[in-house]
Amino acid sequence: MGKQARAIVDLSLKDLVKDLNKAYCDEWLAFYLYWYMAQTVSGRAYEDIKEMLEKLAKDELEHAGELADLITKLGDVPVANPIDLEKGANAAYLTPPKNTADVNRIIRIVAESEAGAIEVYNKLAKKTFGKDNVTYQLVTHILSEEVGHEEVFENLLER
Ligand SMILES: [Fe+2]
Ligand SMILES: [Fe+2]
Repeated sequence: MGKQARAIVDLSLKDLVKDLNKAYCDEWLAFYLYWYMAQTVSGRAYEDIKEMLEKLAKDELEHAGELADLITKLGDVPVANPIDLEKGANAAYLTPPKNTADVNRIIRIVAESEAGAIEVYNKLAKKTFGKDNVTYQLVTHILSEEVGHEEVFENLLER
C-alpha cells in the first residue's frame, strides 16, 4: 500500500494491525482445529462431517491469507512463529474431543468457534466503518463467510 493509501486510514495503524494480527491467529487456530477434526472424525456419517470440516478449514486458511496480505499492505508483517499463534489469538484453542466419534461435540465446537469469529469481525467492521474502507471491505467479506459457517453447523445441531 502506498503513502496515500495509508494516509487515508483514519485509525491508528498500529492498533489496526494489532487487531488484524489477532484475527490472523484466530484463523490459523480455526484452520488447524477443523483440519484436525476432519482427519480424525469417525463413527456415524463421518464422511459428511469430514467433508464439511475440510471445506471450513479451507475457508479459514483463505481468511488467514487475506489478512496476511492486508497486514503486509499496511506496512507490517503477520505473526511469524507458530508458537505465538495461540498467545496472539482472541480466543483460546478449543480442544478437539478425545472421542473422535462424538460428532455432536464436534458440531458444538465449530458453532462456538464460529460465534467467536462473528463477534470479532463484527467488532472490526464497526471499528473500521467509514475509517478504513479497505479493511472494512475485507472484514465484512470474512464476516459473511463466518455467518455461513455458523449456519451450516447450527442446522446440524437442530436436527
Ligand atoms: Fe475465518
Ligand atoms: Fe469460519
